[in-house]
Formats: sequence, C-alpha cells, structure tokens
Amino acid sequence: MSANNDSIQRTILVAVLLCLVCSIFVSGAAVSLKPLQVKNKLEDKKKNILSAAGLLVEGKSIAEQFEQVTTRIVNLETGVYATDVELSELAAAGYPLATFDQRRLAKDSGYSAKLSGKEDPASIKRLEKFAAVFLIEEDGALDKIILPVHGYGLWSTLYGFIALQGDAETIAGLGFYSHTETPGLGGEVDNPSWKALWVGKKIHDASGSIAIDVIKGHVIAGSKKEANQVDGLSGATLTSKGVSNLVRFWLGEKGFAGFLNGIKGQGV
Ligand SMILES: Cc1cc2nc3c(=O)[nH]c(=O)nc-3n(C[C@H](O)[C@H](O)[C@H](O)COP(=O)(O)O)c2cc1C
Repeated sequence: MSANNDSIQRTILVAVLLCLVCSIFVSGAAVSLKPLQVKNKLEDKKKNILSAAGLLVEGKSIAEQFEQVTTRIVNLETGVYATDVELSELAAAGYPLATFDQRRLAKDSGYSAKLSGKEDPASIKRLEKFAAVFLIEEDGALDKIILPVHGYGLWSTLYGFIALQGDAETIAGLGFYSHTETPGLGGEVDNPSWKALWVGKKIHDASGSIAIDVIKGHVIAGSKKEANQVDGLSGATLTSKGVSNLVRFWLGEKGFAGFLNGIKGQGV
C-alpha cells in the first residue's frame, strides 16, 4: 500500500491536484477581491485630490468630503468641457465619468496622440485627448481647480495633482501619489515642508508668460521672480527639474492653458 503511495504516478497526481486547488483558490480570491480593489483605488484617488488642495481632513469619510468636489472632463485640444456626445463616446469606449481612468486613456491610441522631442518636455511620450478636472465651489464661486499632472523625474514617472485657487493663477497645492524616486533625495517631493513652498506661487509672470519654476538652490526673498519660483530639492536636481518640467507642461498650451484661460475669462 505504502509502495503505491510513493509511486511516480501518485506523486504527480498529488502535485497536479495541489496546483489545481491552489490555482482555483488564488484566481477565486483575485476575482472576488477585484471590486474591493477598484473601490479602494477610487477612494485613494479622491484622497489625493483632496490632499493636493489642502482640504483633506483625516478621520472623516473620504466619500463625504468628496461631495464638495465636482468632476468634469475637459477636451485638451479645445480647452472646453467635453460635450454630451463626447462623454457618451468616452463611456461607450470604457471611460465613464464616474471611474474615468486618464492613465489608461493616455495609452489608448484612439484617445491619445504621440508627442515628439520639443513637444514633450515632461517625457510622457503620449498625450491624452481628455482629462478629468476637479472643481470646488464656495458661495457660488469657483474656489479650487484641481488638475491631474504627470511627467518623468529621474527614475520614474511622477503622477499627482496640482491645485489652483479660483483665480486659475495662484497655486493652492501640489502632491504626487505615485513615483519611485529615491527616498531622501527625489522622494522628498512628498515632504510636506517642500510641498508647502508651492502654496501661493503664481503660474505666470507680469508679461503673462508661464514662469513657474523649480530652481536649483533657494529662492531669493524679495527677488522679482520670488512669486514664480520654488526651492529645488537638495541632492535631487534631476527630480526637481522633472517636476518643474511637468508642471510647466500641464499648465502650458498642450495642457490646461486653454481651459484655464476660459475660466479666467468666464468663470466656471
Ligand atoms: C543611488 C542614487 C540615487 C539617486 N536618486 C536621485 C533621485 O531620486 N533624484 C535626483 O534628482 N537625483 C538622485 N540622485 C542624484 C543624481 O544622480 C544627481 O547627482 C543629482 O540629481 C544632482 O543634484 P544636485 O546637483 O542637487 O546635487 C541619486 C544618486 C544616487 C547615487
């Protein structure tokens, strides 16, 4: 009997059955946990949006806090909100407003265009045609505009949000939720003290040119460029340059400039 149990056929049979049981268990867990993963991912995104705008209150339900936020889709080519037809087409193509996945859209050749050389200072390679923007109103007036941004640092593409005041000119906050820059060097983009340096900075200079810039070293207090400059991260000039490039790109002509000009002209 014990000789039978030790036979090659029996060993293989046990190994196959064990693999089968384990794979059923693992794939079952993956399928059943998928909705929870999607929900958590969406909640995390909402948390990052609130955090970039400096509005996140720890310990309070994210869903409740996000009720103050209106999500709109902007056509980056025209700089205006997507039409109902465009929204229906996006939904039919798998990009509904409620779970709009801009990162996936950027990889979709039907909804993004290749960027080359000079057009691509943020090194993102492809630019999506639509972007989700997040608006907060207070007393009927636009209070905050939160825009998604991404671009290359030294080791990775940084993904985050930049928040602007309702004037579409003053920065209210910046935060990244995904990157693999080196902790203590480029990873200092997550340092609250550094992020605080962005608050109150202006996008444009007096001539109307885009002037926001992360410089090497410290900003000189009282200098003409103080309102547009942010201190670079020490020992991480390449990540700092990457952040500067991506912020300028997304606030520039190929990014949200058209949309922001519209807001400046007409309100929401
Ligand atoms: C292991 C290692 C990790 C590094 N990580 C980063 C980084 O995340 N971001 C960055 O800008 N520079 C990083 N650097 C430093 C860059 O190679 C480069 O020296 C630096 O950006 C220059 O900045 P500085 O002119 O402020 O010294 C790293 C260097 C080493 C050796």
